[in-house]
Amino acid sequence: MTEKKPIAASSDRPVRPRRSVLYVPANNERALGKIASLDCDAVIVDLEDSVAPDGKEAARQACARWFSSRPMDREYILRINALSSPWGSDDLAAAVRCAPDAVLLPKADKPQDIRAIEAGLRDLGAPDNLRLWAMIETPAGICNARAIAETAHAPGSRLDCFVAGTNDLAKETGTALSPGRTYLVPWLMEIVLSARYGGLDALDGVLNEFRDAGAIAAECRQGREMGFDGKTLIHPAQIEAANAAFGVSGDREADARLIVDTFDKPENRGKGVIRIDGRMVELLHLEQAKKTLEKVRAQRARSKGNP
Ligand code: COA
Ligand code: MG
Repeated sequence: MTEKKPIAASSDRPVRPRRSVLYVPANNERALGKIASLDCDAVIVDLEDSVAPDGKEAARQACARWFSSRPMDREYILRINALSSPWGSDDLAAAVRCAPDAVLLPKADKPQDIRAIEAGLRDLGAPDNLRLWAMIETPAGICNARAIAETAHAPGSRLDCFVAGTNDLAKETGTALSPGRTYLVPWLMEIVLSARYGGLDALDGVLNEFRDAGAIAAECRQGREMGFDGKTLIHPAQIEAANAAFGVSGDREADARLIVDTFDKPENRGKGVIRIDGRMVELLHLEQAKKTLEKVRAQRARSKGNP
């Protein structure tokens, strides 16, 4: 039985804009060269699924070259192969040399997978600020998502974000990736719930049909309503829809500011509940409003080229 530790409040972690998180195959020089012109919040340079087995070493070298002059304008994450694969250990060592903001572990099945990566990073002398992201994309990963998230409660844990891997989930379970994702939704919600339990961010899976503007807008809307912080993407054409859906709209920002300002009025100091325009507003809404404003600040800073 795992020892119960106090749950890390998500507000303890800095708010990072992760509306649009674009995968780029590590061996696609042309796509890597395009990143600077793209308005995505973060980039995942991929050594796993998008790189064929006989291209892994060349992709690692391409990564080393690219990261040696990486820009500091947003988060850059390096997706390695699983430690159980023939490439995982070499990828992890290469990742530490590349110094991304985070390493993304695919196919996280159980808490021990996280602990093994944490131990590997420690042995390799990775800096404390190198974060760990984990993909939940296998039947075992879904069944163990809460236990995996619980590893984030350990002191010094690097675990920071869950990423839904919908293509692998569909492959492993036979579930259809149909519009609306009817049968995937319960598992996606498990990922969101578990992420929150661990105080982590959660990113939705990719949409393969990158030419379908209506489909990406609808799926981003759905992801936001499920509680995801952003969406992983495969093509530049999907960035705008994700930024729009997961960003804070002007109306939401104005409402958050109204809540903060109203609670701040002398007559409302010390109150737990107030009335604004005919609705009840409690301290929990104040907390939510402050978080929204923090998100707006983070988004604006990112647009100005700061991560
Ligand atoms: N990141 C950055 N740039 C990308 C990109 C990406 N993920 N996908 C495409 N581009 C670039 C192309 O290089 C091309 O640039 P150019 O105008 O300078 O030639 C431009 O966007 C238009 O690309 P397009 O011709 O529409 O697509 P494509 O046929 O080159 O690529 C895919 C289509 C699906 C192969 C490609 O988008 C891709 O590899 N995506 C990521 C796949 C991945 O990482 N999968 C693993 C996680 S699921
Ligand atoms: Mg995969």
